[in-house]
Amino acid sequence: MTHKKSEEQLFAILQLLTEKNDFVSGEYIGELFGLTRAAIWKDIEKLRGLGYEITSQTRLGYRLDSSLHAFHRDVILKNLQTKQLGQNTIFFDKTDSTNDQLKLHARKGAEEGTLAVAELMTKGKGRRGRSWFANRGDGIWLSLLLRPQIPPQDASMLTLLSAIALSSAIEETTGLVTDIKWPNDILYEGKKLCGILTEMDCEMEQINFIVLGIGINVNTKTSDFPEELQETATSLSVILDKKIPRTPLLQNFLMEFEQLYLEFLRKKKGLQPFLERYNARCTTLGKDISVLGNGEAPFFAKAISITEKGELTVKREDTGEETVVFAGEVSIRRN
Ligand code: BTN
Repeated sequence: MTHKKSEEQLFAILQLLTEKNDFVSGEYIGELFGLTRAAIWKDIEKLRGLGYEITSQTRLGYRLDSSLHAFHRDVILKNLQTKQLGQNTIFFDKTDSTNDQLKLHARKGAEEGTLAVAELMTKGKGRRGRSWFANRGDGIWLSLLLRPQIPPQDASMLTLLSAIALSSAIEETTGLVTDIKWPNDILYEGKKLCGILTEMDCEMEQINFIVLGIGINVNTKTSDFPEELQETATSLSVILDKKIPRTPLLQNFLMEFEQLYLEFLRKKKGLQPFLERYNARCTTLGKDISVLGNGEAPFFAKAISITEKGELTVKREDTGEETVVFAGEVSIRRN
C-alpha cells in the first residue's frame, strides 16, 4: 500500500471512531476496510503514536478517548481559522529540516502561507550555522512560506513580528508570559524556549520568498536535551509541569501571526505599530549586553531601544557613542 493510501485509511479509521464516540468492534472495522486484525492493531498503534488516546477492550473493540495531543495535518487543519497561513500544510513524520524542505517547495512555486511541519527533524537548523535539537513528538518544528512585496532589507522585521505572535500565542494557549530577547529568541527565566530562523531568497530589490522557521520546545524533558543544552534550554512542559497539546498552540500562532503580518503589509509603517507590544516583552532593553557579529569586533554596551526597522540602539561602553545594531547576536551580561 502506498504511503498516501495507508494514511487515508488511518484517518478513515479515526473518523469512524470519532463519529461513533463509543466502542467499535474490530470485526466491524475489518469488514468496512477489508483489514485483518493485525492490520487494524497496527493502525491503532500508529494513531496512539500520533497522540490519540484509544482504549481497546476484548470483545468490545476500540474507543477513542481523547484526541487532545493529536498532532497531524488533518488535526491541524481542522478548525484552523486563518485565511491563508497553514491552509496548505505539508506534514513530515520525519525530515532533515523543514526550512530546507519548504525552500524546495517554494522554488517549485508553492503558494504564500504554505506550512511545513515535522514530528522529527534529523538536521534541524539553528541560527549562525548551529544545529537545532528537534526530537520526535516533543516540539513544534515549523516553517512558513511568505512572499511579501517589501524590500529585502525590511525582511528582518518579519522575524520580530513573529516573535510577538509566538509569545502572544504561548500566553493565549497556556497562560505563560514569556520574554523576547532581541531580535527573536523566546526565553523563560533566561532559558531558551523557542528559536526563529528566517531564510530569504531574493534579488537586489525584490524578495522571491522568505522561509520563517520556528522551533518551540513544547514537551521536551530536561534530560532529553543534549547535555550541552540542559542548562540553557527549557520547554513549556518543564515550566508548567504538565504535557501541553501542540495543535492549539500551533493554530493560535498561525492566527496571531497572520493578523500581524496582514496589518504590517497594509499599514506600511514598518514595526512602528507593533513596537509597544514588542517592547513590553523584550527583556534586552535596559540591560548591559555584549554584541557579537554586527560586522565588527565584539563590544560591550547598554541596550537602549528598538527602532521602527527592528534594529537595536545601544550605547557603547568603550566610546560612549550611541550606535545601531542591525544584525548579530547579543548576550545579556547583567541586569
Ligand atoms: C535558533 O537558532 O534559535 C533558530 C532555531 C530555528 C529552528 C527551527 S525548527 C523549524 C525550522 N526548521 C529548521 O531546520 N530550523 C527551524
